[in-house]
Amino acid sequence: MRILIKDLQQHIGSEVTIMSWVHIARDQGKMAFFDFRDMSGKVQGVVFGKPEVLEIAKTLRPEFVVEVKGIVNKRPDKMIKEGVLNGDIELEITGIKVLNTAETPAIEVSENNSIDINEEVRLRDRYVDLRTDRMQANLRMRGKVAQLVRNALYEQGFTEIETPIFTKSTPEGARDFVVPSRTNPGKFFALPQSPQQYKQLLMSSGMERYFQFARCMRDEDGRGDRQPEFTQMDFEMSFATEEDIMRINEELLIKVVQTLYPEKKIQKIPFPRMSYKDAMEKYGSDRPDIREDKNDPNLLAFLWIVDFPFFEKTATSDDPQAQGEWTFTHNPFSLCKPEHIENLMNKENIGDILAAQYDITLNGFEIGGGSIRAHDPKILRTILQILGHTDEKIDANFGHMLRAFASGTPPHGGIAWGFDRLMMILQNEPNIREVIAFPKTRDGKDIMMDAPSEIGNAQLRELSIKVDIDKKEL
Ligand code: AMO
Repeated sequence: MRILIKDLQQHIGSEVTIMSWVHIARDQGKMAFFDFRDMSGKVQGVVFGKPEVLEIAKTLRPEFVVEVKGIVNKRPDKMIKEGVLNGDIELEITGIKVLNTAETPAIEVSENNSIDINEEVRLRDRYVDLRTDRMQANLRMRGKVAQLVRNALYEQGFTEIETPIFTKSTPEGARDFVVPSRTNPGKFFALPQSPQQYKQLLMSSGMERYFQFARCMRDEDGRGDRQPEFTQMDFEMSFATEEDIMRINEELLIKVVQTLYPEKKIQKIPFPRMSYKDAMEKYGSDRPDIREDKNDPNLLAFLWIVDFPFFEKTATSDDPQAQGEWTFTHNPFSLCKPEHIENLMNKENIGDILAAQYDITLNGFEIGGGSIRAHDPKILRTILQILGHTDEKIDANFGHMLRAFASGTPPHGGIAWGFDRLMMILQNEPNIREVIAFPKTRDGKDIMMDAPSEIGNAQLRELSIKVDIDKKEL
């Protein structure tokens, strides 16, 4: 039976079998020393006085996969490594079976940290990179945070619901990724920039409390805190006020930190709040870093930004004639503050209307945003009209939302966390690629899979698509 390396302590004096990778191999002539690694930890092993075992031991190289039989021995007092898992034991190896060999890896896993290695190499051989201690910790902690959030939300009556990936364009302010439909020639699905419309439609559906770890796709230029494909912890709740949503999410973030990151300190609880106007005037940013000590990697300064303007002009210039149309600052489905509803319905003082919107920021990053939504079809139509849509276009693009709202939709609101960004900060990482198993490069490629890639003519014909790009132009 296989014993996990972390459990070897319970088998001192017995012969056990472990399944592991060769982490480090040191051949010392008549003896051979090893560090073995499995998902639970590492242990030292030694071969001596067994010529037939030594012969196999001498063939082992880093990253070979092996089944090792050995007696768990206590180390002599002088050899004990304090504070290290299995620092007080070693395996006296009695047998080795090679389950797989390994070519010399481009990334030395035993270095434990690959941050200084060329990122192209790391992303190409991601499966090796992910074996390093640092990347293992990032992925395992990401999973633990997600599990804690799931459990905590279930305790409060929330249900996780998946929403479609093949859908229609939803305005979140970025370009869509599109997927051609073979059965509807010339037509395309859009991949969701967020589940915004579906989660609101789930409120129309009487679910009342929804959340989802949702994949979102946005065709925008890469940055350290941006990926074309990323994960939101997406949340929506019926009969909720701004205060309710902010409180539940604040409590959840505090619980994540206090349970899973006890070494970290939250600068201020309850989280401070700042108006968009104050943030811009004082810091010139809508996500100011308000940490009292920016050198402390364990200080978390959460900050809510509130009172956002609902609308802004798309383009400004010195010539007032050249000003653009009104556009939304967060998303068009938000509601305004109750005191501005009259202005909104009369389409007056549009630039002064404030949205019932809140962003959550952490150490200078926007880690989430949301709002109370317009659930009255008349209000949503007016907002879309202010944004310059004709009634015809509104009915064509948003008819489903208006019909749902007219069918008995409760007041509702929600938020979405940028889950990758939150994990980046909690794990003290410099960019979100470090907390994503298989991220894209800055120019949006998966260099391990070699995607995106060309497709054959037969497939193109089936999709009724002609590629009209001269390769020399690219
Ligand atoms: P928003 O567009 O603000 O809101 O997105 C929510 C959060 O998602 C994160 N985020 C990203 N993370 C990584 N890569 C990206 N390209 C990227 N884009 C956004 C940010 C951001 O705060 N539907 C609304 C939410 C709502 O109103 O409930 C929405 O998507 O941390």
